[in-house]
Amino acid sequence: MALGLVTAGESHGPALVAIVTGLPAGLALDKEMIDADLRRRQQGYGRSPRQKLESDEVEVLAGLRHGLTLGTPLALVVRNRDHANWTWGMSPWPPDGDPSGKGAKPVTLPRPGHADLAGVLKFGHDDVRNALERASARHTAVHVAAGSVAKALLRELGIVVEGRPVEIGGETTDEAMRAATDEARKERHTLGGVVEVTATGVMPGLGSYAEKSDRLDGRLAAALMGVQAVKGVEVGDGFALARRRGTEAHDEIDPGLERRTNRAGGLEAGITNGEPLVVRAAMKPLPTLMRPLDSVDLATGEATQALVERSDVQAVEALAVVAEATVAFELARAALEKLGGDSLDDLLAAKRHYLERISARWRPR
Ligand SMILES: Cc1cc2nc3c(=O)[nH]c(=O)nc-3n(C[C@H](O)[C@H](O)[C@H](O)COP(=O)(O)O)c2cc1C
Repeated sequence: MALGLVTAGESHGPALVAIVTGLPAGLALDKEMIDADLRRRQQGYGRSPRQKLESDEVEVLAGLRHGLTLGTPLALVVRNRDHANWTWGMSPWPPDGDPSGKGAKPVTLPRPGHADLAGVLKFGHDDVRNALERASARHTAVHVAAGSVAKALLRELGIVVEGRPVEIGGETTDEAMRAATDEARKERHTLGGVVEVTATGVMPGLGSYAEKSDRLDGRLAAALMGVQAVKGVEVGDGFALARRRGTEAHDEIDPGLERRTNRAGGLEAGITNGEPLVVRAAMKPLPTLMRPLDSVDLATGEATQALVERSDVQAVEALAVVAEATVAFELARAALEKLGGDSLDDLLAAKRHYLERISARWRPR
């Protein structure tokens, strides 16, 4: 069965939920490791005080017994602790009593760059909150939890996935990235940036060129573009390749079938080639601004300014964690497609058999 993921949950609703299907039985999961990834997502120099309110923790409702997967759907829950302040405003059922707390007043000032306007037009909402709650990146928390599970599976296969910020506000050193964030906070601006995800220990042969939809480069790009605020994805040297000659664009093959370079980022024709996987994602500056952009009040049609809500200055470090989880999930899906198996033992046996078959030719150092 293919690895699948479905998520639900609003930003200030009671909880976020993920159901992961297609995991083999017998995979050991560690709550501490999942919680550590959830914490990494919340940290970062450009994050807002909301992250201090939320200290995310995973609960498992199904699919796991005594720390081992059962080969059945795995149900993950991350509660929104901030929901305590929104119990009337975000009540799933018609709320009791007079409006109170946060979210009680309808939002009518759509923020450019958010789902606010397109969402209310599409779904016919009067309160912009009905669009922004789900479109918010808050639910990346359960994607990170699911990615953490995927990383546990990949670790069994010897694959390690890591994401990191490589550029914030146009700066590329840690010090300059922090300084740019400080300055943006002072000036009440927001910033974007670039994250890089690498995966090492990836065997050749994950993904396929058989159909467009099988290509792992396409699947990674779609999955990363599906993350809020990601506006571009490149694999390997990506856009820079467009400006090079052929002799400086490809990766020559040495005996043992190793490559001298890794400009392709570990993917050729949509298939892993045994070199480290390298993908990057570009994030736009966050659209909720403390110096709000011009907008229109949907209730009156009058020109006004967009809603100001507590927001991050930049979330590039957080995106690095989300992108890591996203790449891990797609890689785990591709590995299960290639190797299959209802139990972890079946999966590992299939890996051994496959590596033995290709070992006559593929002998990395
Ligand atoms: C980890 C993460 C955190 C984010 N935090 C914020 C935030 O605090 N404020 C904000 O305006 N946008 C934030 N965003 C971006 C918005 O969710 C996103 O821009 C918006 O939903 C519109 O989607 P689009 O940019 O993909 O078109 C964040 C995105 C990510 C991935």
